[in-house]
Amino acid sequence: MSKSITDKVIRNASGNLPFSEILQRNLSRRAVMRGSLAALATMGSLGLAACGGSSDDDDASETPGSDPGTTPTTPTTPPEALKLGFDSLPASMTHACVVPAGYVAHVLGAWGTPLNDNAQPWDRNGNNSANDLLNSTGMHHDGMHYFPLEGSSTEGLLVVNHEYIDQGALHPNGATRVAGKRPVEEVRKEINAHGVAVMHIRQANGRWEIVNNSRYNRRFTSATAMKLAGPVAGSDWVKTPFSPTGAMVRGTNNNCGNGTTPWGTYITAEENWASCFVNTGTRPAHQVRVGVSTATGRYGWESAANDASEVLGEFARFNVTPSGADATQDWRNEVNGFGYLVEIDPYDPNSIATKRSAMGRFAHEGCAYGKLEAGKPISFYSGDDSQFEYLYRFVSEAVWDPKDAERTDRLAVGAKYLDRGTLYVARFDADGSGTWLPLTPASAGTGGRTLGDEFGSQENIIINTRGAADFVGATPMDRPEWTATHPGNGDVYLSLTNNTRRNAAAGVNAANPRLNNVNGHIVRWHDEAGADTFKWEIFVFGSNAGADADTNRSGLTAMNELASPDGLAFDDRGILWIQTDNGIDNGRNNDVARTINDQMLAVIPPAMGASSGTGPVINSANQADLRRFFVGPNEAEITGFAFTPDYSTIFLNVQHPVNWPAYDTDDATVASAAVVRPRSSTVVIQRADGGKIGV
Ligand code: FEO
Ligand code: CA
Ligand code: CA
Repeated sequence: MSKSITDKVIRNASGNLPFSEILQRNLSRRAVMRGSLAALATMGSLGLAACGGSSDDDDASETPGSDPGTTPTTPTTPPEALKLGFDSLPASMTHACVVPAGYVAHVLGAWGTPLNDNAQPWDRNGNNSANDLLNSTGMHHDGMHYFPLEGSSTEGLLVVNHEYIDQGALHPNGATRVAGKRPVEEVRKEINAHGVAVMHIRQANGRWEIVNNSRYNRRFTSATAMKLAGPVAGSDWVKTPFSPTGAMVRGTNNNCGNGTTPWGTYITAEENWASCFVNTGTRPAHQVRVGVSTATGRYGWESAANDASEVLGEFARFNVTPSGADATQDWRNEVNGFGYLVEIDPYDPNSIATKRSAMGRFAHEGCAYGKLEAGKPISFYSGDDSQFEYLYRFVSEAVWDPKDAERTDRLAVGAKYLDRGTLYVARFDADGSGTWLPLTPASAGTGGRTLGDEFGSQENIIINTRGAADFVGATPMDRPEWTATHPGNGDVYLSLTNNTRRNAAAGVNAANPRLNNVNGHIVRWHDEAGADTFKWEIFVFGSNAGADADTNRSGLTAMNELASPDGLAFDDRGILWIQTDNGIDNGRNNDVARTINDQMLAVIPPAMGASSGTGPVINSANQADLRRFFVGPNEAEITGFAFTPDYSTIFLNVQHPVNWPAYDTDDATVASAAVVRPRSSTVVIQRADGGKIGV
């Protein structure tokens, strides 16, 4: 996500800004660690996952429902065997990707790449149709996952989020209006450029390519019919002329980060959906709290309403101003069908994507699940990316049965674990402990009242999840983005990208301890077994290398300075990959942005317990183990991470470049000599010698 759709308005008026005196206490508690992180890894209770028994079998079945090969692996690799095997890259600002020596990088599935013969090839002048977009990759790639076919590392399904659009690049001459209305073909093209793509990909002569016309290839757009499940489904909140029973919704929007499940499905996170809808009347509190627009929707899609070709209010639904006698007569409830985690079964091309409302409704960045234990509930973590918003956890009512990883009715398994459970929000206390506060009607809130007293039913709580979290006293964070769980020890990490509004009036708190936090940081925690409590510490503070010690608390240098951590993922070996979204497209307004493009770094973290206090874990004594692996092209964000089971290929996404990728080559490291129409793309990274990535 970049400047164009970031929600910059502070919508949290709850006054949950405690601990403003904590900064000094926190500083005094900061742990001092010595030696390298890799060495420390051997001291903790680190258990790292093995490579997962991958197969290079190239004759994968195309039968939907085949073995996903995603069963969690048993940690076996000794941690001391794992070391980063590349040198940290220097800073760069070019119109090309940069990878370490010995690595190659290729472009795959750039915006507008046909998935089947119903699409025309991408046009350099922006003349593709709405129908082309429905049958091609969308725009602005973000979260992503590789689902192997029969465990293969050379053939699988790459599922990619398409977060938002650049109207200037999408159309020949940008967005237009005629007599105040957006042309319907432009609007349909924009709606189809959003969503999610499922791409069947395989290697041919070592190069990955899309299998054109594969039955697996699918697009989900902002108009695709989806199921709604969980407490909100069927309630009066979501009954519309399209779905009078409230069982279905149309479309998924602004799909930012992602998650996966232990049973082989994909989760796409709806983030900045609220401002695509407009209410020109009096907005109810829950719409104010999420930022529904007041004059026009972000792209003015509602302005195309009443065109003779309009089907079932396909444009009118973006205007949620009540105008009829009740919810069956207007689109007042349309927006209530958005703001969820959406489960997709990529292995079944006939499956219907399902919005899991029990997991909360807010600006979901992504979703990581906690370490699995047979017979125990499963935890799922999700950040709400806006200034002073919160971190959430959903705990399943059902306990984990490892046999469910082998089932092929995957969305039924999803219903088992994701539709019933308890939603919590995090409170971080100054002493390095924390509490998960349940968001249920019985939960105690402010003024001696319960959430039930204040909001009523669970579905009411879900619709205004942010308001409920305010009411129980959650800790306001510096824009919670991705979460990632260590595959061996179960420590969970959260990127807090930045918060320039954390001023003296707002105050700091222990988990967000820097005023004017332009550089962001990463926090990590470990849930205490069988309790609603956790221990936490700060992992790393972003900073420019030349900053003073109070800013550069992790001692970063020119070889690993970073700001605005966002994408965050562990591979199964225990390497943490950190991606940045430093707002470079907004004018290089911080010192890191003036030095380096957005990037991806890697580190092998020690387990929690090796230090005391609230961090940071990375400091001047061990910072050299945080290494820069990738630098993206000018103005692009780096986001989304996937890898093959044998680690011979990793995939990342380059979002909203300005002059990349070059025409007439798929080499991602080539800077074009001429000006090109920019395309967000997946970048495939391999070692020239075919070896494992990163080590
Ligand atoms: Fe879409 Fe919070 O990044
Ligand atoms: Ca971001
Ligand atoms: Ca993001």
